[in-house]
Amino acid sequence: MGGSRVRPLRFFLLLLVLHQCRDHCSSGSTTPAAEAFIRWKNSLEWYPLDALSSWNGAAAGAPPPPCNWTGITCDATAGVVGIDLQHLGLRGTLENLNFSSFPSLISLSLSNNSLSGGLPPSLGNLSKLTHLTLDGNRISGPIPPEIGSLGELQVLDLSENNITGGIPPSLCSLKKLREVSLDMNHISGGIPTEIANLTMLERLALFNNSLTGRIPPSMGSLKRLQYLDIRWNRVSGPISPLFGGLESLQRLYLRGNQISGIIPPEIGKLRNLRVMTLSNNSLTGEIPPSLGGLVNLERLQLHGNQISGAIPVEIGNLRSLRVLRLSRNNLSGVFPPFLDNLTSLEHLLLYGNKLSGPLPPQIGGLQNLVELDLRWNRFSGSIPLTIGTMTKLGSLDLSWNNLSGSLPKQLQDLTYLTSLNLSHNNFSGQLPFSIPRLQSFALIDFSHNDLVVPASYEGVIPHESFVGNRVEASSNGSNSSASQKPSRKGRVKVVISVVVPVSALLIILFASAKIRRLRKEQTAEDMDGREVQKNKNLFSVWNYDGGNVFEDIIQATENFDDRYCVGVGGNGSVYEAELPTGQVVAVKKFHQPEDGEAAYDATFRKELCAVTGIRHRNIVKLHGFCFHARCAFLVYENMEKGSLASVLSNDESAMELDWVSRVNAVRGVADALCYLHHDCTPAVVHRDISSSNILFDSEFRACVSDFGAAKLLRVGSSNWTGVAGTRGYIAPEFAYTMKVTDKCDVYGFGVVALETIMGTHPGDLVSSLSLRPSSTGRSGLDILVKHLLDPRLPDPVLEVSREICSVVMVALACVRADPNARPTMQQVTQELSSHRQQPFEPFDAITLHQLMDFRPDMSRSEASISIKG
Ligand SMILES: *[C@@H]1O[C@H](CO)[C@@H](O)[C@H](O)[C@H]1NC(C)=O
Ligand SMILES: *[C@@H]1O[C@H](CO)[C@@H](O)[C@H](O)[C@H]1NC(C)=O
Ligand SMILES: *[C@@H]1O[C@H](CO)[C@@H](O)[C@H](O)[C@H]1NC(C)=O
Ligand SMILES: *[C@@H]1O[C@H](CO)[C@@H](O)[C@H](O)[C@H]1NC(C)=O
Ligand SMILES: *[C@@H]1O[C@H](CO)[C@@H](O)[C@H](O)[C@H]1NC(C)=O
Ligand SMILES: *[C@@H]1O[C@H](CO)[C@@H](O)[C@H](O)[C@H]1NC(C)=O
Ligand SMILES: *[C@@H]1O[C@H](CO)[C@@H](O)[C@H](O)[C@H]1NC(C)=O
Ligand SMILES: *[C@@H]1O[C@H](CO)[C@@H](O)[C@H](O)[C@H]1NC(C)=O
Ligand SMILES: *[C@@H]1O[C@H](CO)[C@@H](O)[C@H](O)[C@H]1NC(C)=O
Ligand SMILES: *[C@@H]1O[C@H](CO)[C@@H](O)[C@H](O)[C@H]1NC(C)=O
Ligand SMILES: *[C@@H]1O[C@H](CO)[C@@H](O)[C@H](O)[C@H]1NC(C)=O
Repeated sequence: MGGSRVRPLRFFLLLLVLHQCRDHCSSGSTTPAAEAFIRWKNSLEWYPLDALSSWNGAAAGAPPPPCNWTGITCDATAGVVGIDLQHLGLRGTLENLNFSSFPSLISLSLSNNSLSGGLPPSLGNLSKLTHLTLDGNRISGPIPPEIGSLGELQVLDLSENNITGGIPPSLCSLKKLREVSLDMNHISGGIPTEIANLTMLERLALFNNSLTGRIPPSMGSLKRLQYLDIRWNRVSGPISPLFGGLESLQRLYLRGNQISGIIPPEIGKLRNLRVMTLSNNSLTGEIPPSLGGLVNLERLQLHGNQISGAIPVEIGNLRSLRVLRLSRNNLSGVFPPFLDNLTSLEHLLLYGNKLSGPLPPQIGGLQNLVELDLRWNRFSGSIPLTIGTMTKLGSLDLSWNNLSGSLPKQLQDLTYLTSLNLSHNNFSGQLPFSIPRLQSFALIDFSHNDLVVPASYEGVIPHESFVGNRVEASSNGSNSSASQKPSRKGRVKVVISVVVPVSALLIILFASAKIRRLRKEQTAEDMDGREVQKNKNLFSVWNYDGGNVFEDIIQATENFDDRYCVGVGGNGSVYEAELPTGQVVAVKKFHQPEDGEAAYDATFRKELCAVTGIRHRNIVKLHGFCFHARCAFLVYENMEKGSLASVLSNDESAMELDWVSRVNAVRGVADALCYLHHDCTPAVVHRDISSSNILFDSEFRACVSDFGAAKLLRVGSSNWTGVAGTRGYIAPEFAYTMKVTDKCDVYGFGVVALETIMGTHPGDLVSSLSLRPSSTGRSGLDILVKHLLDPRLPDPVLEVSREICSVVMVALACVRADPNARPTMQQVTQELSSHRQQPFEPFDAITLHQLMDFRPDMSRSEASISIKG
């Protein structure tokens, strides 16, 4: 079969509407809001079970659902006003949350989860919404223009997503907006001029996007704006003089753009400004003297531009300045002689300019200075002795200047100084450092000067640090050039001082490579190098465009080579395919039938119908499909941990599946079956519930899988069917009725539930129980529940032992011989999700006998067995 000639057909999209699944399961909820939440919860690929455990119907005496569910707040009339589910790791999409069910919603906060997919236009229906915070997810696609209907919106935070497209002008009609954060996305296009309409705006964060065009001058009218951050975009053009009107502005970040022109003098009017970062642009002209009016400025960063002229004396008025970074410009003139008032200055970086003249003695007044970097300038003269008063100095770089004279002894006393670079100057005379002091430097370089280096220094510091000076001989009296090879002793020290860092470096490299590789297994890099979760659907039924994915799968499985086959079923084989992105999927390829294309088509269609439209966290998820007369496959999510059967058959993995995970697995399977039986129209009967068809993902989420084509309830046709299912899980009545009913699944579920608790197929236990009418002949049922438990696990704690009893009680009812005596899956899920208080009887003493009488119709207190600690 020539892979490349097989072209996937796309008409199957039509089938997607076949299943309409609603959600009643796992809750007794009634309100549309509660239903919308449950439906969304079921659609999530992952959520923390404990955090959303309250999303499960009403508790006695509690407010109506969903009003006292975790993360939900209601108003007096039980309308949902707040949804606050941050930092939970939720995985899924917003598209499955029916916003029309929350007409009163005021605040929607889903920050820091893993939600993907687009922003649904139906968000626009939330006419009362004031806070919309969805930052830190994986939302993609554009901001829908419908956002313009959120007339009450005050805070919009969509930062750290994968949003593309432009800023919709309709956003600018939301006159109540105070904070807009769209940073760290892939937003492109220009900033709309109408943004000036947002007169209440206090914060506008657009950094790390792909915005272009000019920053609209009209923004100068935003009188309340305090924070404006457009860093790391591609905006160009000049800064408008109208920006002088931003009278509340405290922080202005325009770094890393292509802004040109001069710094308009009007900026000097922004008296509230505390931070101004215009670095790494194409600014020209001089620093306007008016900047001296920015008396609150703490940080002035203009580095990486083409600013020329002298540093204006008015900078000397900036008493609050802590950071002054003017490096990598075209500044000329002398060292700023106006430093007396800059007593707060901690970092002064002027490197890479054309500054000249001497360093003034006033430099010593910078008593808080920690970092002074003047390299790559044209300073001359000697180092002023006042340097000794800069007692906090940690790093001093004067390299590549024309400085001369001797080095002041005071340098020896700057106890915090650990990085000193005096190289490439004309310093002469003696070095003022004792050997112990010399050894305390992390970096010291006085190479390429005219200094006299005592021979005793050799070996204490690397040769490179003093090359290009004169080495003073110690004993033989003759001077030798330091550019000679270092002495034997020196070489040993050099080797040590080099080898140690190199081996440390190797360790770091090794570790970081390893970390990177580990990370790479879970993440991919996007264009900006920002790491992003790649655990994202590559293709889904909804927008699947066969082409490449098809090729990729053919390639990944080497045209369905047996080596990639992980399972063979009645109508197809399952292959594991690693796509070029690293995503691993399970591909079910249908066997080519003997009796021609029609039958083939039908089998494939049936499974596809069964699984499309079904979205449940405990049902293995369909990513996409491909259909052609000669090749048809379905692409499912890969379930890393394999089947329940295989997990239980291995002692190590069986122990990993602890009691809590086992109870949750049983609940998950029950939820999934309830959903199939009661929420889907037409109902789906799985017919092959067995421990081989329950799969686990890496976090032990249990999923029902294998919707084999022959295992569907045939809608509108006879209910009669050939034998299906797995021995040991087939309901006894099936042998003589051959009729498909949902009670077949209930039976299979009962067996699986017992198997999960016992760690092995219950075998004879079930047959002896199920052949016995439930109301009579109880002898032999005195087995202690405790003795049924998988002996590989430690004894369950009290809380969990109650849940285990509840599972066993339900399972025993499910394997009853009479199908009519078995509960429905809805009754099963209700029982398993009710957290009853059970006051008598210690767990150790409970027998199967006591758990035999589960009757879903009974009032709850009668039906339950109670356990005491
Ligand atoms: C729900 O309400 C009940 C009764 O008022 C209370 O005991 C329970 O803690 C509440 N649950 C949550 C999740 O708020
Ligand atoms: C995001 O959520 C995770 C839990 O899912 C939490 O560990 C992490 O600290 C949160 N990050 C932030 C920035 O809040
Ligand atoms: C969404 O909720 C509204 C109001 O509760 C309801 O009328 C509508 O049918 C729901 N839509 C879907 C797709 O369930
Ligand atoms: C909700 O939004 C959708 C899409 O924008 C729209 O078609 C629908 O009429 C809205 N429903 C309500 C109740 O406003
Ligand atoms: C972000 O979206 C772009 C375009 O839709 C896509 O190419 C890229 O893979 C997405 N990245 C992530 C991290 O989702
Ligand atoms: C902005 O305000 C002007 C005048 O108030 C108005 O004409 C214009 O329609 C507004 N634009 C938007 C996008 O709201
Ligand atoms: C923003 O982009 C710049 C340049 O691409 C990058 O160096 C920086 O780390 C990004 N910031 C964040 C917070 O990702
Ligand atoms: C400055 O910005 C340009 C893009 O405008 C970028 O390529 C360059 O790496 C940046 N340089 C620094 C030092 O940040
Ligand atoms: C640098 O400044 C000098 C004047 O000091 C000027 O002549 C020269 O054109 C400037 N260079 C650049 C690249 O701006
Ligand atoms: C220091 O500040 C005072 C008052 O603001 C000012 O008069 C003086 O000129 C400043 N000194 C220098 C050297 O700028
Ligand atoms: C098949 O079974 C369902 C439910 O068990 C029943 O409603 C339906 O009428 C049956 N169909 C036929 C053709 O017997």
